[in-house]
Amino acid sequence: MCGIVAYIGHQQAYPIVLKGLKRLEYRGYDSAGVALLDTDLNIYKKAGKVSNLENFAEDKNLNSTVGIGHTRWATHGAPNDVNAHPHKSGNDRLAIIHNGIIENYDALKKELIKRGHIFESDTDTEVLIHLIEEIIAKDNVSLEEAVRYSLNEVIGAYAIVIIDKENPNKLIAARNSSPLVIGIGKEEFFVASDATPIIEFTKNVIYLDDEQVAIIERGQEIKIVDIANKQITPMIQELEMNLEAIEKGGYEHFMLKEIYEQPQSIRASMLGRLNSVTGEVTLGGVEEFEAKFMNADRIIFVACGTSWHSALVGEYMIEDLARIPVEVEYASEFRYRNPILSEKDIVIAISQSGETADTLAALELAKEKGATIYGICNVVGSSIARATDAGSYTHAGPEIGVASTKAFTAQITILALMALTLAQKKGSITKTRYQELTNQLNDIPRLVGKVLESNEQIKYIAEQYKDAANFLYLGRGYNFPVALEGALKLKEISYIHAEGYPAAEMKHGPIALIDENMPVVAIATRIANYQKVVSNIQEVKARNGNIIGIVTEGDEAIRAISEHVIEIPATDEFLDPLISVIPLQLLSYHIAVMRDCNVDQPRNLAKSVTVE
Ligand code: AGP
Ligand code: GLU
Repeated sequence: MCGIVAYIGHQQAYPIVLKGLKRLEYRGYDSAGVALLDTDLNIYKKAGKVSNLENFAEDKNLNSTVGIGHTRWATHGAPNDVNAHPHKSGNDRLAIIHNGIIENYDALKKELIKRGHIFESDTDTEVLIHLIEEIIAKDNVSLEEAVRYSLNEVIGAYAIVIIDKENPNKLIAARNSSPLVIGIGKEEFFVASDATPIIEFTKNVIYLDDEQVAIIERGQEIKIVDIANKQITPMIQELEMNLEAIEKGGYEHFMLKEIYEQPQSIRASMLGRLNSVTGEVTLGGVEEFEAKFMNADRIIFVACGTSWHSALVGEYMIEDLARIPVEVEYASEFRYRNPILSEKDIVIAISQSGETADTLAALELAKEKGATIYGICNVVGSSIARATDAGSYTHAGPEIGVASTKAFTAQITILALMALTLAQKKGSITKTRYQELTNQLNDIPRLVGKVLESNEQIKYIAEQYKDAANFLYLGRGYNFPVALEGALKLKEISYIHAEGYPAAEMKHGPIALIDENMPVVAIATRIANYQKVVSNIQEVKARNGNIIGIVTEGDEAIRAISEHVIEIPATDEFLDPLISVIPLQLLSYHIAVMRDCNVDQPRNLAKSVTVE
């Protein structure tokens, strides 16, 4: 977790680092800090948001053309000033910023204490900088060598950048399992957890790989070695992202902007894959692996959170159309439960960030066991994208709001394309049905636009229920994962307890919760089990629950028994989640705003969970 950013060059470092930290704040916001070099090593750090740091540092000496900065999501030690990064070596010569966890920090720390080191913080990170300091002194080696040696002793995940008072022209960066991008400008370098702090300065970047160390020197070519000191030839890539995509563009929150971007982000995810004239679908990754997919015994999805909900939709879609058995696993469970896998299994990781530690580890386990691995990621060049044999990018554009919205619908778009491609290749779909679905898929961006027009009505409904203590979300079939997603959105950003349930499961327990204080969001579009959902809603009504129905345009039956209905346009049930989720995103958004919650950066959360 957390964001790191660093600069070395001819400009003042602080404004660049600070702006970078603001861009990376979605990754963690427990504290923020910077280290700058102006003869002295000046470290400023503060608990809370980057703005706290900004106020604190206002009247300090900020002069420096080299600097490192960190925005933290605490794993070891409370989120206070002392535990904020950067952390210093005991001799005040070095400072480090770190994203990840040093798992053997405790053993290392005990040894270092025995040898006289004194620690200020409770973090795992501080141990690493003391270890480096000790190696420099003991082995009389350069900073980069000491970093390499120390990393050979460390178990865990890290992206680090180190600044050295005695080498003001140098930064050392390294990574293992936590992302790190290096931007190459004109006589200047940028380092960051993702490309957003870099994009306005340069499009040329290097993605550092696991166990690699970069030696970044002012006025020199960048050098990369692995931790065994093997030279690596840096591979410079061009960023495709643009600045506009990572700014709010007039919206009050990133989340709202991202909800409204969905007609475009869904379209972008189909682009080049669904031919709107012929209705033909070609999904590159699947074509590449055609033989494997055709002979696969099973497809297993591994994912977390919202991406896990997409995977559930994918299961319904692929089993329904392509008749390939599908399993959906929480990545965190899968990786530790010794799963049975064979070469005939295809394991597909779904991840917006492409950096989720559990998902990446699940994928690596699958690879070890001989399965074919595939990635559905949004962030180009992310760890999962690079670890997979093949995959499909979602093209949703940068998602900054911690609560995932447009990434979810983009993932489902890819899964729909995948199910259609596989079904066609397997011959398990008729030509007419295929045409029908591709036509309707092509129309989804327009329908999403229509749902967005209900924003004011949804805001009104939000006003009525903003003080509720609990919410229940019910859905059947394709809309069951949507119910889970609706509940997750509400929990995440408004801190209201919410549960998603298959509508028919309600009577096996949760029905006991229903009374006049319980709002029940029923996703009850006209799909195969429509009549059964109506009966489930009747059961809620009979117990005085407040029903908010998400219904197909023109529905009268549910309107008659609901407090509120939000109409959405009709589409095939296979594609329903792409539009039925939109009102739920807006509902949670408005409730969170009305409750004065931090929508884009909800408490305790971070955008990408790069720790276990
Ligand atoms: C979504 O709103 C959440 N913030 C979270 O559940 C997220 O979906 C999960 O952490 C997975 O992230 P990923 O898609 O980047 O792997
Ligand atoms: N483990 C470190 C800490 O707790 C870094 C956490 C992070 O990645 O933000 O400070």
